[in-house]
Amino acid sequence: MRVLITRTIPRAGIELLRKHPSLELDYRQGAPLSTKELIDGIKDADAIIAVIPDKITREILLSAPKLKIVAHYAVGYDNIDIAAASEMGIYVSNTPGDLTEAVAEHALALMLSVGRQIPLADKFTRAGEYKFWDPMIFLGPRFGGKTLGLVGFGRIAKHLAKLAKNGFGMRILYNDVQRDEALEKDLGAMFVSLDDLLGESDFVSIHVPLLPSTKHLITDRELRKMKPTAYLINTARGPIVDEDSLILALQEKWIEGAAIDVFEEEPNIRTELKQLDNVVLTPHIGSATREARIEMSRMVAENILEVLISKKPPINLVNKDIKNVRV
Ligand code: GLV
Repeated sequence: MRVLITRTIPRAGIELLRKHPSLELDYRQGAPLSTKELIDGIKDADAIIAVIPDKITREILLSAPKLKIVAHYAVGYDNIDIAAASEMGIYVSNTPGDLTEAVAEHALALMLSVGRQIPLADKFTRAGEYKFWDPMIFLGPRFGGKTLGLVGFGRIAKHLAKLAKNGFGMRILYNDVQRDEALEKDLGAMFVSLDDLLGESDFVSIHVPLLPSTKHLITDRELRKMKPTAYLINTARGPIVDEDSLILALQEKWIEGAAIDVFEEEPNIRTELKQLDNVVLTPHIGSATREARIEMSRMVAENILEVLISKKPPINLVNKDIKNVRV
C-alpha cells in the first residue's frame, strides 16, 4: 500500500510507518507540490499525509481511486473538501490537542511582541539608533488588569485564557457557540456577545475555525467597535479577518496594532501590511514548537496505521458523516 507524504515532517511518524513492510512510502521533500504533482502522486496512493498548503479538492480526490485516508498534518482542515471525501468514502483525520499549548503560547508571544513593540525595538537597536536611554520610547501596555477577549473558546483559547489569567492577571471575556460554565467559574471568565467583547477588550484574539459562517467574521464594522488602544491577534485562519478592513484599521489607527500569523492568501502577504509599523507578521508558525510538530508527525502516522493496517476508522476522525467507507 502506498502512502504519499507531501512534505518533510519530523521523523517520529515516518519511523512508525517504516515498521510496516506492506507500506511503500512516497516521501516528497522541498517545496509544496503543484496541483499536477499532487494529482500524479495521489493517483496510486492508499493514504496521503497532507499539509496546510495542499489543496485537497474534489478534483484531487477524484483522481485517487484507491485513497482511503487523508491524514492532515494540522488541526484546521479548511484546505480539504470534507464533503467530497465523505461522499467518496475517504476518511479525513487531523491532529487535535497536540498543538494546543504551541498555538496558545504563540498567540501570547504575539500579544507581547506587538504590545511591547519588540520587532521595532530590535530593528532600532541593530540600526545603531540606541544612542541614549530615553524614558519616552517604545511604550506599551501593562498586561496585568487588561482584558483579553477570545473569539472562539476551544482548546487553544482556553489554554491562552489560563496563561493570561494565571500568568498576567488579565480579565477574560469570550464568545463562542457554546458556554463553558466550569471554566467561567475557574478563571472568572465572562461569556459576552461578540460586540461587547470587541468594545471592551484590550487584546482580541481569534480562535474559531474557518467555516462559511466565520469567513470575514471581522470586517470594518467589527474593527470600528474595538478600542483605539486595542490589539487584534490572529493565529487561527487568515480569511476570518477581512484583510482590506484590517489594513485600513491599522493605517487609520482605529486600533493600536495587530499581530497576525495567518493571511487571506497565504503565502502572499499584502504589501500594505509589510509597510505598516503597527503590525507584527509571522509565517503561520503557531504550532511550530519541536514538541508539537513531533507529536503531529506521530499522530498522522497512527491515523494511517489505524486505517490501512488495523482496518478501523482513524483515531482523530474528522468526517464522522462518511458513507460507504473504502476498504
Ligand atoms: C495550523 O494552522 C493547524 O491548523 O494545525
